[in-house]
Amino acid sequence: MRTLVIETGKKIGTEVTLCGWVNTRRDHGRIVFIDLRDRSGLVQMVLTKDLAQGLGVEDVLEIRGLVKLRPEKLINPKLTTGKVEIEVKTVKILNKASELPFPIDTDGYDINEEIRMKYRYLDIRRPRMTRNLRLRSQVTTFIRNFLAGRDFVEVETPILTKTTPEGARDFIVPSRLQPGKFYALPQSPQQYKQLLMVAGLERYFQIARCFRDEDPRKDRAYGEFTQLDLEMSFITQEDILRLTEELFTQIVTTIFPGKRIQTSPWPRIPHAEAMAKYGTDKPDLRLDKNDPDLLAFSWTIDFPLFNKQTTDDFYYGSGKAKFAPSHHMFTAPHPDDIGLLETDPLSVRGLQHDLVLNGFEVGGGSIRIHDPKVQAKIFELIGFSEEQKQQFAHMLTAFTYGVPPHGGIAPGIDRFMMAVLGEPSVREVMAYPTSASGQTSVMDAPSSATNEQLREVGIQVIRKKPAADVYTRIVELLDAHEVAYKTYEHEPVFTSADAAKIRDTSLHIGAKALVLFADDKPIMVAVAGDKKIDMKKFKKLYQVRDLRMASALEVQQVTGVPIGAVPPFGNIFAIPLYMDTSLQSNETIVFNAGLHTKSISLKEVDFEKIAKPMIGEFSQTHEVA
Ligand code: AMO
Repeated sequence: MRTLVIETGKKIGTEVTLCGWVNTRRDHGRIVFIDLRDRSGLVQMVLTKDLAQGLGVEDVLEIRGLVKLRPEKLINPKLTTGKVEIEVKTVKILNKASELPFPIDTDGYDINEEIRMKYRYLDIRRPRMTRNLRLRSQVTTFIRNFLAGRDFVEVETPILTKTTPEGARDFIVPSRLQPGKFYALPQSPQQYKQLLMVAGLERYFQIARCFRDEDPRKDRAYGEFTQLDLEMSFITQEDILRLTEELFTQIVTTIFPGKRIQTSPWPRIPHAEAMAKYGTDKPDLRLDKNDPDLLAFSWTIDFPLFNKQTTDDFYYGSGKAKFAPSHHMFTAPHPDDIGLLETDPLSVRGLQHDLVLNGFEVGGGSIRIHDPKVQAKIFELIGFSEEQKQQFAHMLTAFTYGVPPHGGIAPGIDRFMMAVLGEPSVREVMAYPTSASGQTSVMDAPSSATNEQLREVGIQVIRKKPAADVYTRIVELLDAHEVAYKTYEHEPVFTSADAAKIRDTSLHIGAKALVLFADDKPIMVAVAGDKKIDMKKFKKLYQVRDLRMASALEVQQVTGVPIGAVPPFGNIFAIPLYMDTSLQSNETIVFNAGLHTKSISLKEVDFEKIAKPMIGEFSQTHEVA
């Protein structure tokens, strides 16, 4: 019964039923033009004023109408259906739409991300997002067909499992049947895929969800992301590199025909050379970085097997041992370097390969250890306790029953899509990403569990004692440094100008504290009340790629203080503080101290001593209305 918008071009002279959303409405006296949108595109409809009565943008309609060829002059070459228009006979409103919280006909980059995520189902209506999701689906379909054609078996591995470390924190899920015990969500299917090689599958792949509790960045989603995970037996590193190269080359030529791969075969760069030449193990090799259609793939190989362990190595012994795996603990040492495991572990090379695209690490993998003795040696070097070793005993056991030599790779689907589309963040290629603060899209998770749920899983939630309020902490900090200061109580104020008026101080001595995100990390910036931050200057001065103001909600999340009451003490909130030179010329400075109703003033030199800001010149004059 229903005709798709895209098919109307072939139905000239017939009556059709179309369903979709009102994209735009243009009133021209007695006739009204409405562009109707469905999954296939847009078509222009012509309605009488009566028929168009009450039809608003984003309403869902079912219409019947006659497809007519447009006169030559009125053809719209920008629209696939631009040769025709629909003369509408009847209209049924299937659902009336309220006014949307934001426009969806723009690219959306400038809209606050929290709002975009809250209404993600609307955000996805914007053509850029719809396109991204469609292309992503084409990529995964292509991958499935390509690998199935080469005898790969797609296997789903468990989500409720035991820790599979990749260097991040695990998410844990309490068990009801065994109270006090927990599942871990897999950081990758690494162990299961290796066990599938023991099982004799020889060629495995999975479009796999991975879970990692680590700080998000532009190219790193918080919580979960997707890998093309694959593993093969009886192969060499060369086989893995070739297969990956062929697959991704075909993806680009088939799905992104407008893009050009700069160099084929892809350059292979030893780790040491990459570090010496480019200062990074994921160099951006594009000759023209402004060319949006250029793709520079490369391989980084010959990684050191170990790094020096630090306390940042969350999983691997928490900094207590000397060595941490630079990839993961199943990566095989280079056969020529096995002897060095005893004498000089840091100079052992691993059979690891990273897939790099335009400066992003898009994939990582390796040839695996298949000798349980070598595996045990690695556990020892990374400082595993007996208990930690026991957690992986199943691997050592499995490897005593006939394990083939094997290896694989896991390109990140989100990261590949981000890089190939030139999107600024992985969140732009995910349907329902989690925000930087760990909030899920649309649905309000994480959320509390009921007492009943907690009882069933044997869990008691212990609330951390609330820290002293911010005002008290500042006062304590100032007292501890034995400096003089003055406190004010006043009517609530919300802007620097109001604050200056009520405290009867000049605007210039007011220290305005702003929370920003610099390359996705929260920072605090303090400028004089009559100045504002010059984002360009700041970025240049501190080599920041991406700088944005925090939203009111983010300010609250970072500081626990409502916007307008944030004091310029980054150290109280454990974030770095940058101070503009505009504040330095003051003998005293004054600021709202965590409350809209309280302020504190003190000597500028004392402030510098206690808040220890980085000082630079990055303000511009604020035109106060
Ligand atoms: P690794 O940890 O290097 O290797 O991850 C492989 C690829 O997964 C992607 N990736 C991410 N993408 C988005 N958000 C994240 N937080 C995130 N973390 C990782 C990247 C990365 O290159 N089991 C091994 C693979 C193997 O050895 O076969 C592994 O997971 O694109």
